[in-house]
Amino acid sequence: MKKDFLAIPDFTGSEIDDTFRLARQLKEKTKKAECPKPLAGKTIALIFHKPSLRTRVSFEVGVAQLGGTALYITDKEIQLGVRESIHDAAKVLSRYVDGIMIRTFAQSALEELARFADVPVINGLTDLLHPCQVMGDMLTIVEKKGKIEGMKVAYLGDGNNVANSWLNAASRLPFDLRIATSPDTPPDGEVLARARKAGISQITITDDPLKAISGADVVYTDVWASMGQKHLAEARAELLRKFQVNEGLLRHAHPDCIVMHCLPADRGQEITALVMDGPHSVVFDQAENRLHIQKAILIKLIH
Ligand code: CP
Ligand code: NVA
Repeated sequence: MKKDFLAIPDFTGSEIDDTFRLARQLKEKTKKAECPKPLAGKTIALIFHKPSLRTRVSFEVGVAQLGGTALYITDKEIQLGVRESIHDAAKVLSRYVDGIMIRTFAQSALEELARFADVPVINGLTDLLHPCQVMGDMLTIVEKKGKIEGMKVAYLGDGNNVANSWLNAASRLPFDLRIATSPDTPPDGEVLARARKAGISQITITDDPLKAISGADVVYTDVWASMGQKHLAEARAELLRKFQVNEGLLRHAHPDCIVMHCLPADRGQEITALVMDGPHSVVFDQAENRLHIQKAILIKLIH
């Protein structure tokens, strides 16, 4: 049976650890120009309903490094669910390609596509989740800190798709996740409830940035207004100003902490330029690791 990657809990804890191992091997081999080519002769469709730099380029380059062909498709052409039903588009695409990555708005549209597609579907970001991002981020933490288990991870800012994927990660691997956000910008209630029910990690949701960041090994932030919500940017900035990752707040984290951001960043808003370019920042390592973790995910789903 085909397997999809729509959310981090689609993988078990040990499958996630395996994916990290494979990604590290692929990274090492790619750096020596020895990347294996298990996707030779295969084609992966990359569908984008929202803009992208990292996701588009890392998937295109990753598929090429694995010997396959990537097909970049915007909604201008296929108009998923408008020109024809998601069902029919899924069935047709499955006759042409060996896998589909999609970045879209509603998680339900992604799930519908996956339900009807006969080939694996990968979530390249929805309004609800960004699983490839947080998989790459955890790989970066493993590289920098040796492990994710037991780490104190402080996420400061909007309770968005990235925060939700951190909650999903905490439902599979054991760490101490603190999300600091305003009462008006919480993470998704169902995702939070499932993560708590899993009973794997310590999970704190607070509106006190100091409580979240105290002694943190990882300090994480993301934009205050996500794609599709940019018209709310001003109101969001009012709500989230006190969660800005700046030099003052960072002094309360562990002295060896790493600072992470999925990018693109709004410098001067959720993170100051001094912190983003400072000695704790690993933001570009994170961006690089999208390439290697996604190759590992592709190999796990498509052989
Ligand atoms: N982090 C991330 O997904 O970046 P893009 O929106 O540029 O793909
Ligand atoms: N939360 C952001 C992540 C971008 C990679 C957004 O959805 O726009």
